[in-house]
Amino acid sequence: MQQTAVVTAGTAGIGFETALGLAEAGLEVVVIGRDPERGARAVERINSTGPLHSARFLAADLSSLDAVRDLAGRILATGPLTVLVNNVGAMFPARQDTVDGIEATFAVNHLSPYLLTELLLPALRVGAPSRIVNVTSGAVGVAKRVFDAVEPPGGYYGFHWYGRAKLANLAHTLQLADRLDGTGVSVFAADPGGAATGMTDGTLRDPKIVSPGLRLLWPLVRRKFARSTSGPASVAAKSSLFAAIDGSLAGRTGVVIGPGVHPVAPFRAATDPRIAEAVRRLSEQHAPLTAA
Ligand SMILES: NC(=O)c1ccc[n+]([C@@H]2O[C@H](COP(=O)([O-])OP(=O)(O)OC[C@H]3O[C@@H](n4cnc5c(N)ncnc54)[C@H](OP(=O)(O)O)[C@@H]3O)[C@@H](O)[C@H]2O)c1
Repeated sequence: MQQTAVVTAGTAGIGFETALGLAEAGLEVVVIGRDPERGARAVERINSTGPLHSARFLAADLSSLDAVRDLAGRILATGPLTVLVNNVGAMFPARQDTVDGIEATFAVNHLSPYLLTELLLPALRVGAPSRIVNVTSGAVGVAKRVFDAVEPPGGYYGFHWYGRAKLANLAHTLQLADRLDGTGVSVFAADPGGAATGMTDGTLRDPKIVSPGLRLLWPLVRRKFARSTSGPASVAAKSSLFAAIDGSLAGRTGVVIGPGVHPVAPFRAATDPRIAEAVRRLSEQHAPLTAA
């Protein structure tokens, strides 16, 4: 039976390498991105490797919740789904709102993949055994663990707000794994470690991205960022690929795949049921399945 995989933010960086790897493994790949030209180029590159099934591109700006709903409708119309890789992620140097008036870091890194996943569950259930892979980050370690509102208290520091949105998504990932246990839909998180991509090149050179405390240590922090994000995206994509298709994970769920491409213990705060519950409430409130 033909197996279909959707990879969000799959036209460049880690997402592109993930899409390429899934196509090489024999899946029909649907690549999502905002820019049709980049999308056409990505699909052309994948299809030039002679995959079993041609890759396709669907355009969607995943910072817009209506665009996520519209994309889900287009994917649902095409049939069952075997793999959903929620790879979209972004870090912003300055605070900004999405078209929905929601702080962009939380919207892109958590609300958007949350909403897309919820809407695609019917296709993933029909496609079972199927897998959801949410791309996480080591930045969860610098997150404020307060989730009574979309935005945490205090000033805007892009790296920390990014880590907090990824923590929300990781807590949601583990909660979703429990919820779907026994349905044949497995849920994993994959930490790519680091890679030189548009995201890391565009943001991690600006000291304003970290809190004033860390800014005092900027030369050290900057070196650590540079070292940890110097590798190729093709290597960083291996954790997502492992989570999406490796046979050793068959029948398992709620597993975090670390940058070393093997299961690791989840970051402790993400297993806290109070955090998961607060994230669930925020997600349902700010990203309803149908538009108001
Ligand atoms: N790079 C790292 O060191 C690192 C470390 C840990 C975790 N991660 C995570 O790994 C994932 C991939 O990161 P990356 O570094 O590969 O990112 P990236 O280079 O910024 O990703 C580029 C891709 O994202 C797409 N994209 C960006 N905004 C989008 C939006 N609003 N809607 C749809 N597509 C969008 C771009 O397509 P268009 O421009 O065509 O829209 C392109 O396909 C993210 O979840 C990130 O948080 C990365």
